[in-house]
Amino acid sequence: MAPYSLLLSLLAFTNSVHGAEWLGEVRQEAGVEYKCKCYSDNACWPSSADWTALNTTVGGVLKRALPPAAVCHSKVSTSANSSTSVYNAAACKNVQANWLNEQWLTDDPIANLWPLYTNNTCLPTDNPSEPCTLGFYGTYVIMATTKEHIKAGIDFARTKNLRLIIRNTGHDFLGRSTGYESLIINTHSFQDATFLKSYSGPGNYTGTAAVVGAGVQGRDLYRKAFAQSPPVVIVGGECPTVGWGGGYIQGGGHGPLTSIYGMGADSILSFEAITVDGKFVTANAKENPDLFWALKGGGPSTFAVVYSLTVKTYPEVPTAGTIVNINSTHTNDTAVFNKGFKIFHNLANHYVEHGMFVYFEQGPGPGRLHIAPFVGPRMDEAKVNEVLKPLFDQLDAAKIPYDKYTRAFPTFFEFYIDMFEDEQPNQNSVVGGRMFTHTDISERGDQVADALTFASMPANDTLGFNVGHIVDPGFGVPVADNAIHPKWRNSSSFVITNIIMNGDESWEVKMEKEKFQTEVVGGALRKAGPDGATYVNEGDLNEPNWQESYWGSNYPRLLELRKKWDPAGVLYTKTTPGTEDWAVIDYGRRLCKKA
Ligand SMILES: Cc1cc2nc3c(=O)[nH]c(=O)nc-3n(C[C@H](O)[C@H](O)[C@H](O)COP(=O)(O)OP(=O)(O)OC[C@H]3O[C@@H](n4cnc5c(N)ncnc54)[C@H](O)[C@@H]3O)c2cc1C
Ligand SMILES: *[C@@H]1O[C@H](CO)[C@@H](O)[C@H](O)[C@H]1NC(C)=O
Ligand SMILES: *[C@@H]1O[C@H](CO)[C@@H](O)[C@H](O)[C@H]1NC(C)=O
Ligand SMILES: *[C@@H]1O[C@H](CO)[C@@H](O)[C@H](O)[C@H]1NC(C)=O
Ligand SMILES: *[C@@H]1O[C@H](CO)[C@@H](O)[C@H](O)[C@H]1NC(C)=O
Ligand SMILES: *[C@@H]1O[C@H](CO)[C@@H](O)[C@H](O)[C@H]1NC(C)=O
Ligand SMILES: *[C@@H]1O[C@H](CO)[C@@H](O)[C@H](O)[C@H]1NC(C)=O
Ligand SMILES: *[C@@H]1O[C@H](CO)[C@@H](O)[C@H](O)[C@H]1NC(C)=O
Ligand SMILES: *[C@@H]1O[C@H](CO)[C@@H](O)[C@H](O)[C@H]1NC(C)=O
Repeated sequence: MAPYSLLLSLLAFTNSVHGAEWLGEVRQEAGVEYKCKCYSDNACWPSSADWTALNTTVGGVLKRALPPAAVCHSKVSTSANSSTSVYNAAACKNVQANWLNEQWLTDDPIANLWPLYTNNTCLPTDNPSEPCTLGFYGTYVIMATTKEHIKAGIDFARTKNLRLIIRNTGHDFLGRSTGYESLIINTHSFQDATFLKSYSGPGNYTGTAAVVGAGVQGRDLYRKAFAQSPPVVIVGGECPTVGWGGGYIQGGGHGPLTSIYGMGADSILSFEAITVDGKFVTANAKENPDLFWALKGGGPSTFAVVYSLTVKTYPEVPTAGTIVNINSTHTNDTAVFNKGFKIFHNLANHYVEHGMFVYFEQGPGPGRLHIAPFVGPRMDEAKVNEVLKPLFDQLDAAKIPYDKYTRAFPTFFEFYIDMFEDEQPNQNSVVGGRMFTHTDISERGDQVADALTFASMPANDTLGFNVGHIVDPGFGVPVADNAIHPKWRNSSSFVITNIIMNGDESWEVKMEKEKFQTEVVGGALRKAGPDGATYVNEGDLNEPNWQESYWGSNYPRLLELRKKWDPAGVLYTKTTPGTEDWAVIDYGRRLCKKA
């Protein structure tokens, strides 16, 4: 890395770029001139007195950002020239025991669940002499407990020109809740949830609702909704620990009830948020309706920081479903397996036309399909069997071996707790994906299935892993006034593709794998699904033509709204509206704007 750094011509530490005030460094990379945010080696980096003052403003909840496994190392390098020690053998044992525990990781102040984006730094170890650097973690974190703490963080980052990261659970697949030497605002403690028997506006909706803090996680919210009398449901994700009110809603949000009740963002009635200039605002049908529209699917960490949301709740529904496996216990013949996968996936339109949601995993590599589960809201066992009959008839006729397991529950919540599995965090993969519409499936179903099978092992030396969601928000909610790509109203199958990595690959290898994901795997997906789109929460950071691909015809309005609500780029996450001129340069370190 060092030789290349020498090639970067560092122009000056300056306050003035083309006559305009710019607090920060001007750098060149690959022939492009950039104005950067302030970093610890710049004169504009806040002094320790500044940090102390911020800590006072936030009542002492400012903390040094230390990687979760810092306690396993005798020394933590906190910046180029300083280090500290928080070594603690007992605490390290606890980290090791919890390294694959999603809830524990989301409770940590700054942990990211996908370590590729922290630079795989400072891992748990039995050898305390192993180095622990901050990698792509931030420098300080505000453990916000009030909206004023969030405001103080936004104001500090804006006036000091620091990279600002909002970190809710650290779940993001794309590294959007971490940033090199950033100031992090942690929203995890916003855990209130109040249920309303009737919402009376603004807007036309008058049913049951809930007011939910930005930090509440999926399964907790389902549990709280189920505890109401009568129990209600909320549209959330399949993952128990994703932060419902943070990135999930701002990206759109699909989940097990989406085919009957729409996307997560379709149900939002109002947001309480803080703008990048530090103002508390309400965004709903009456106040700031443009911000309301944009926050519903226009991109995470793009328009404002949300701290509370009001959402429609719906009646509980009896739910039944089925788990199906085809793997090496059934066949080792990949041709048989691939035929079975094709039969399953080609029926995607059929499942969603019955209001179903289907979660499936394909891979790693050839020969493993784990459908867990088919979700049949408003169905009993007989109904699920009837809807899935074409699948099993076709598998039987083609002599494809499989096993299945069907169960019915009086409520969705009981179904969810029993039939869904937790995922494992701390895996390394380069992510991509695509949503295929009804048209893609009906006209090119075989090619779609072949592209997915290819993605599960796209080269002899490259293992892939697909996470699929057969889901159609347009079935339950055909029209919605929000920023989500309109193509989602005709979705049939949305699949995340992963290229499996170790995590310790060199920068060059990571870039090569990203390119492979975008061009080779993504190329196959786009070719098979030309009518489809992509999903900003679970997509490719290098998606070509991302504006159109993530937002379609909503993009021009989103770009205008970004210019209105965050013209200076206080917030940043890659491939979100209005970030065209921004880039993270210097090997993933510095966030800069083209000068
Ligand atoms: C295992 C797993 C399962 C998943 N399952 C689903 C699923 O079923 N359905 C689905 O739609 N998605 C799913 N996702 C994707 C999920 O929606 C995104 O990862 C989402 O970004 C998580 O939001 P978060 O707030 O929990 O995460 P974080 O990583 O903390 O934040 C993600 C992004 O949102 C921003 N953000 C967070 N809070 C706020 C806030 N209060 N205001 C402004 N910006 C904020 C962050 O800055 C960051 O850019 C899944 C992800 C994983 C890893
Ligand atoms: C660290 O020390 C080196 C050498 O003394 C100096 O050039 C560099 O600017 C210092 N970096 C920081 C962040 O203080
Ligand atoms: C902020 O203040 C609290 C309370 O005085 C203190 O415990 C904490 O260490 C301070 N944070 C920093 C980063 O110094
Ligand atoms: C990221 O990791 C690479 C490889 O170990 C290393 O060269 C680089 O300095 C790291 N970057 C940061 C910001 O720590
Ligand atoms: C609310 O109802 C009024 C009157 O029926 C209608 O004009 C308006 O478009 C509706 N608003 C929304 C947001 O649906
Ligand atoms: C393979 O299928 C069997 C059921 O026959 C299941 O128990 C097992 O978990 C599956 N294996 C994998 C790796 O999915
Ligand atoms: C597939 O291969 C594995 C490993 O050799 C073996 O254990 C398994 O029994 C085989 N499955 C079938 C259906 O033959
Ligand atoms: C959805 O796809 C179907 C089937 O191809 C088509 O008839 C319909 O017009 C599409 N609807 C939308 C909203 O695009
Ligand atoms: C993988 O290896 C097989 C057998 O050696 C070969 O036929 C095939 O072309 C290779 N595939 C790729 C994508 O390289």
